[in-house]
Amino acid sequence: MDFKSIISHCKEYGFIFQSSEIYDGLSAVYDYGPNGVELKNNIKKYWWKSMVQMHQNIVGLDAAIFMHPKTWKASGHVDAFNDPLIDNKDSKKRYRADVLIEDYIAKIEAKNDKDVEKAKKRFDDFDEAMFRSTNGRILERQKKMDEIAARLAKAMSDGDLEDIKKQIEDLEIACPVSGSKNWTDVRQFNLMFSTQLGNIAGEEDKLYLRPETAQGIFVNFLNVQKSTRQKLPFGIAQIGKAFRNEIVARQFIFRMREFEQMEMQFFVQPGTEMKWYDYWKETRMQWHQSLGSPIEKLRFHDHDNLAHYANAAVDIQFQFPFGFKELEGIHSRTDFDLTQHQELSGKKLQYFDPEKNENYVPFVVETSIGCDRMFLAMLSNGLQEETVPDAKGNESTRTVLKLHPQIAPSKCAVLPLLKNKEELTKAAKDVYDKLKGSFNCQYDEKDAIGRRYRRQDAIGTPYCVTIDFETLEDDCVTVRDRDTLTQERVKIDSLKGMLFNKIEG
Ligand code: GAP
Repeated sequence: MDFKSIISHCKEYGFIFQSSEIYDGLSAVYDYGPNGVELKNNIKKYWWKSMVQMHQNIVGLDAAIFMHPKTWKASGHVDAFNDPLIDNKDSKKRYRADVLIEDYIAKIEAKNDKDVEKAKKRFDDFDEAMFRSTNGRILERQKKMDEIAARLAKAMSDGDLEDIKKQIEDLEIACPVSGSKNWTDVRQFNLMFSTQLGNIAGEEDKLYLRPETAQGIFVNFLNVQKSTRQKLPFGIAQIGKAFRNEIVARQFIFRMREFEQMEMQFFVQPGTEMKWYDYWKETRMQWHQSLGSPIEKLRFHDHDNLAHYANAAVDIQFQFPFGFKELEGIHSRTDFDLTQHQELSGKKLQYFDPEKNENYVPFVVETSIGCDRMFLAMLSNGLQEETVPDAKGNESTRTVLKLHPQIAPSKCAVLPLLKNKEELTKAAKDVYDKLKGSFNCQYDEKDAIGRRYRRQDAIGTPYCVTIDFETLEDDCVTVRDRDTLTQERVKIDSLKGMLFNKIEG
């Protein structure tokens, strides 16, 4: 489904609303509605379960959003958490200079994709990999993209703002709004939001809203290690809000100013970090597939431009409706953060290794995923328009949200066949009461049964349980599967167990 339709579906079905909509909204800030909060909570539960519950050596933490201002000096965010900003003098629009260049590359990539699609239609036994590695035009464009990306990566890591501007001029990139190439110089823009502690104004009391949850984990490293008596390697996981004053906030919940991260810092012996980096790369990729993302919509993308704290970094990219973009980052952060905090706080952040009988600062491998981006990935992967047979066997179109049952907002809907038959509504409410303590369920008696099925399809409910006249005779209900549309009769007494197996299985 196209991106616009996904956004309007989110509003219509109570997944996501623009923040402060009645005041015309607040840019890049969103509220989650009744179905959205369920889906988001389920994503968080699924992540927590797979990271914390399933790993004996990973424990949880919930650190405060506000931290001592020195935290951000130590982590490098005060000095280096910048994006290069550029304004177009005619439209007065502001852009991230690197994103203008990345968008230019994406346009070239789109041309290659188009050529591949065309060739696919021409040949029956089409070999895409072969075509991409031999077709002259594709190779030429690929070379151009690689050159542009390499020059951008170098300018970004050298902090060479002049060359970034020069590259925009060389590529003749125009402002998408005014069409002009009348650009200001490129300037650095710090992404952290700041506020004041108490009522005293001054640099000393400047607080920042955390731009990543990771630092709450680093400063608590020894508290957690000592209180849980964990031995290396072990991890600390955390879910929480992060804030970034993004220059260009576009693409709905993909790039927000207030968002949620699910991060895990895995502390390891120095020298073993690359082994764990590879382990977490693979483990996290499998996690995405376990929630139903097809392998062809996922890919690794090594960072061209390493962050100040990393010695290796890779993104798991997902194919969103606007192209392959970062969904999760896996970073080998070395001992940078712990060492920095040690220096600025004057407190030791070292691990005593009983086997080696020595103290050292551990190295860290981080997995960091945005909960909101995961939400968008699940919606854009799952939301589909399908042609299916209706009750009379005629073809009809339905909008269906194919979510993994474990993250679906409601697990099942209980539907009496008819609304105005008290014996049916009473039996249905009894079934609903039996299930509601175990699953998030819905009870719906309004409209014809077909329309009720469609409503549940649109919010991703995997099972609909229908109570009909036969139920009153045989204590059985009909369970309809959202994806296969198959229906089976099940005894009410075994319904809960059957749904549990289907959902948890
Ligand atoms: N602690 C490492 C860190 O924060 P990052 O790559 O800057 O690394 C990690 O962010 C993840 O957080 C990203 O992969 C993305 O899913 C999410 N994220 C980052 N900025 C975001 C934004 N403005 N809106 C929504 N999600 C964002």
